[in-house]
Amino acid sequence: MSPLLRRRRTTETGPAEVGPLEEGPVEVGLAEPGPWGPAPVIEVRSLVKSYGEGEGAVHALSGPVDPVTGDRAGVDLTVMQGDLVAIMGSSGSGKSTLMNIVGCLDVPTSGRYLLDGIDVGGLDESQLSLVRNRKIGFIFQSFNLVPRTTALAQVELPLAYAGVKSAERRRRAVAALSVVGLADRLDHRPNELSGGQQQRVAVARALVTSPAMLLADEPTGNLDSRSTDEVLGIIDRLNATGRTVVLITHEDEVARHAKRVIRLVDGKVVNDVRQAPVDGLPPALRDPDGFAHAHADAMQITEQYTTQQFAQPAAQPAVPQTALLDTTLGSEQR
Ligand SMILES: Nc1ncnc2c1ncn2[C@@H]1O[C@H](COP(=O)(O)OP(=O)(O)OP(=O)(O)O)[C@@H](O)[C@H]1O
Ligand SMILES: [Mg+2]
Repeated sequence: MSPLLRRRRTTETGPAEVGPLEEGPVEVGLAEPGPWGPAPVIEVRSLVKSYGEGEGAVHALSGPVDPVTGDRAGVDLTVMQGDLVAIMGSSGSGKSTLMNIVGCLDVPTSGRYLLDGIDVGGLDESQLSLVRNRKIGFIFQSFNLVPRTTALAQVELPLAYAGVKSAERRRRAVAALSVVGLADRLDHRPNELSGGQQQRVAVARALVTSPAMLLADEPTGNLDSRSTDEVLGIIDRLNATGRTVVLITHEDEVARHAKRVIRLVDGKVVNDVRQAPVDGLPPALRDPDGFAHAHADAMQITEQYTTQQFAQPAAQPAVPQTALLDTTLGSEQR
């Protein structure tokens, strides 16, 4: 039996810790619901991430800043099992920084992070890579597939790292590729797949280990609208079966799929809106017809807007830069 990361329940004496080499079954499934309902998958407290020091320091995640002392309270965030969360915000607002910390790819300057009940602050590098492999499935904007490697081998890779035997690896990788509709593309290499298909391979690779959550940084950023719909449809269905998903996006159309939308400005959470209950279906599956109509309307408005933009005569009164800035900030803080 493989070594494991066994999740211990939070107790009165404090949060769960991880013992990487305990004996017992490997737990790679969802966080178990606690006696009072779903458990938090992400618990972030007073999280600060700064680069550099002194005057030139960049505070990528700061939370509210005390106007008198200048102290940074840090970011607090709890994501419950089964949620589908979109993180939005303009370029440089701290989205990827937050995602990298939540994904255990980076460490905070200060603050606390419990992932699926495990306090990751006390883990060394090998324990962290074990946590990443067992608990998190990553999806990136640029797919990050291995060149010249078949879809099947790409999806088997995380299982190989986890020490799963060859026949079982193959069985699970084929099942994951079937979930994303690529059972007939097992032997295709990235250059033999469309962008949307490549991203679906990446989704299969992310979910094959049955992680506690999927983290996606702009998963549809490089896709056309049809492939975007396909990938979002898969994410909707994965969430409907209980998978926790946190995704970063710039697009309102993508955020509409989320049950909860969080907006960051300058390393602070400025808005946190629930669009659908954690324990229900995601918006696109709750009322598919209504969602599709709203989508069609939104597309029409976008098309009209784009057409108008291109139809604008060259000589337009100049818009003062400050007005543009106000509009941008206004839309961020909606
Ligand atoms: N390694 C680093 N060193 C110094 N500053 C950094 C580093 N990484 C990020 N930053 C800064 O931290 C801030 C937040 O960056 P982050 O990548 O989280 O933004 P983002 O919201 O993901 O933006 P985008 O939408 O463009 O991807 C930015 O001001 C960025 O310049
Ligand atoms: Mg980013």
